[in-house]
Amino acid sequence: MAEKLEMVKNKQVLLKDYVSGSPKESDFIIATDKEISLEVPESSDNGVLLKNLYLSCDPYMSLLMPKPANSTFEDGFSHYTPGSPINGYAVSKVLDSKHPKFKKGDLVWGITGWEEYSLIAEPDSLFKIEHTDIPLSYYTGLLGMPGMTAYVGFYEVCKPKKGEKVFISAAAGAVGQLVGQFAKLAGCYVVGSAGSKQKIDLLKNKFGFDDAFNYKEEQDLDAALKRYFPEGIDIYFENVGGKTLDAALLNMKSHGRIAVCGMISHYNLDKPERVHNLAHVLYKRIRMEGFAVYEYYHLYPKFLDLVLPYIRENKITYVEDIAEGLENGPAALVGLFSGRNVGKQVLVVARE
Ligand SMILES: NC(=O)c1ccc[n+]([C@@H]2O[C@H](COP(=O)([O-])OP(=O)(O)OC[C@H]3O[C@@H](n4cnc5c(N)ncnc54)[C@H](OP(=O)(O)O)[C@@H]3O)[C@@H](O)[C@H]2O)c1
Repeated sequence: MAEKLEMVKNKQVLLKDYVSGSPKESDFIIATDKEISLEVPESSDNGVLLKNLYLSCDPYMSLLMPKPANSTFEDGFSHYTPGSPINGYAVSKVLDSKHPKFKKGDLVWGITGWEEYSLIAEPDSLFKIEHTDIPLSYYTGLLGMPGMTAYVGFYEVCKPKKGEKVFISAAAGAVGQLVGQFAKLAGCYVVGSAGSKQKIDLLKNKFGFDDAFNYKEEQDLDAALKRYFPEGIDIYFENVGGKTLDAALLNMKSHGRIAVCGMISHYNLDKPERVHNLAHVLYKRIRMEGFAVYEYYHLYPKFLDLVLPYIRENKITYVEDIAEGLENGPAALVGLFSGRNVGKQVLVVARE
């Protein structure tokens, strides 16, 4: 007879029901009744059993919450299922492994469940963490998916040249704060927009942006951009869409580039907002390109070669907003859509 496996409680964050509009804390349930074995079952050929340490709160997660039939977002990820734990990027520790690439004690980052422990049946897409002199939580941000996003969006899509003028929206967030620092290291002039005085101070005094403005205090975004870019914008790193994109289109230089990284202002709208100034893509021969970070993960080693020395020499800094405990996960996650986070929003489940 097979030996009975020891079971432990596994706290989880479940989606209560499909979401329409902006997600709210009440769209989630904290479940404490589930149990899990901390060993990979005999029946699993390649599975790993993870203890989840740091969970990443990311804007794309709200795109996975509506009923799939009502959603226009189809690429790359599976929608969440009501009654099941949501999932996302995380840093985790391997407790047991049947996969040749991973062994007990390894630290990894990649997609896992919003729960204390996860059994990952197909762990091939997890990245093993090799550099542990850097804070582990950075693998949800600076050294994880958002860091790679800043890197590929700026270097691969925008292809910056020294002296160019760069505008970044949602500039104080997980991705934006890094794009700005990469742009300064590349010798560009950089202005960011963000939604509070505290964030504007960070942009100017901590991340080294040349200037920054609070878009919520500007009556006329076109006039604001003309103030900061009297000769026009070479590169717009687009994180928000909507009115900001419309104003940026009016202020692009000929042959400018727009890297469409995100459009957070659209994610939770029932009816999409119209863009009015798209004709400027033609008038100014602008190259506007959307990209998805997961199509560039083969560049991760190249990214580490660039960014690890910058971190170790204090040439790059990173601000995190840390929430503690799975029960505070829903508030941390929905806070992204009102700008409550200051820097990369991380949720600590356990520190080791
Ligand atoms: N293409 C890819 O592969 C990829 C990968 C990662 C992220 N992304 C995208 O990159 C963007 C930034 O992501 P992140 O992780 O760095 O998030 P983040 O900036 O850390 O957090 C989201 C921020 O967006 C701003 N925001 C929220 N609602 C807004 C609205 N209606 N209008 C304008 N700004 C709004 C808020 O800042 P304020 O206080 O400044 O309003 C909020 O703090 C998102 O659009 C995300 O979807 C894309």
